Amino acid sequence: MTSIHDVATPALLLDFDVLERNLRHMADRAAGFGVRLRPHIKTHKAIEVAERQRALGVSGITVSTLYEARVFIEHGFDDVTWAFPVILSRLDEVRELAGRATLRVVVDSREAVEALERLDRPLHVWIKVDCGYHRAGVDPESPLALELARRLAESPALAFDGLLTHSGHAYKGKSREEIVATAEQERSVMAGFAGRLRGEGIEVPEVSVGSTPAMSVVERLDGITEARPGNYAFYDFMQVGLGACAVRDCALTVMSSVVSHRPGDERSVIDAGALALSKDPGIDRPVPSMGEVYEDYGAGRLSEEARLVSLSQEHGIVSAPLAVGTRLRILPNHSCLTAACFDEYLVVRGDEVVDRWKIWRGR
Ligand SMILES: Cc1ncc(COP(=O)(O)O)c(C=O)c1O
Repeated sequence: MTSIHDVATPALLLDFDVLERNLRHMADRAAGFGVRLRPHIKTHKAIEVAERQRALGVSGITVSTLYEARVFIEHGFDDVTWAFPVILSRLDEVRELAGRATLRVVVDSREAVEALERLDRPLHVWIKVDCGYHRAGVDPESPLALELARRLAESPALAFDGLLTHSGHAYKGKSREEIVATAEQERSVMAGFAGRLRGEGIEVPEVSVGSTPAMSVVERLDGITEARPGNYAFYDFMQVGLGACAVRDCALTVMSSVVSHRPGDERSVIDAGALALSKDPGIDRPVPSMGEVYEDYGAGRLSEEARLVSLSQEHGIVSAPLAVGTRLRILPNHSCLTAACFDEYLVVRGDEVVDRWKIWRGR
């Protein structure tokens, strides 16, 4: 057995027991609201994690890239939503993958619907709805939203799955109350739009929502049929700041080493930079930080003094004078982007590395 204190750094550590607890917690929450869980696997990109989600009752998954779709289909996940506005230059791959599994794609434009109709594949199609995040998706009040829904519902070539949205603006919430309000806005916009379409005689089979902060605090999900959180598998410091979880719920950390300290300098250099942690600054907070340093991992305690003050490609600058060779365990701001920087997880229980899981990253 290898100890985490001996592994070569930088290394990505995944706490098995915390992961299992997080997966079960969200599975129970979704079941409690009576919605199906279709987790976003872009967070972990690991077959082993998705298999654990499946063991907890998940039958379909969400992906953000066609590469993820391909890998997970090849590993037996046969119901996949590609929750990204369909990329028209990749339709050959869409066509091929749709011949191998149930592939559900997402549109918010006439151009995309027309291109999919020409594909000659029994594709499942969601309409992406903007519930307030304003990144992508049709305005549910717009004539285009009604036009696309009618067109898909009546299409002989395509299967209309329903309405899908992402409450990414929940990440802007300044308090639990604000996030609860965003989650309720997501629910009511989606349930309301589905109701209006049904009033027009359009069948809306599914209504899909999703984001980890919203799913962590939402109080009701009537009118919704599925939820697609992803980050909840690992959580991270951003979710701690939002109140979606506690530090002890964070399953993903980066083990790093101090590689340089100039005598007299108040700062040290570690071997985890932007290509280990990403440059996501997390949410606004009084002391900006690119990553937190654990004082005591087991106790879920973070250092008050040492934090990551800046990152360059491979260097991280820590606000403490530390001897070269000192090992620091870092809690990233954003676990999805951190995982996407590494090739594998060192799966750990306590201080022991018990397994290695491949991270399938690609576009
Ligand atoms: C379309 C879509 N659905 C679901 C999710 C999952 O949200 P979260 O990462 O908050 O769990 C994301 C995340 O970016 C997303 O873009």
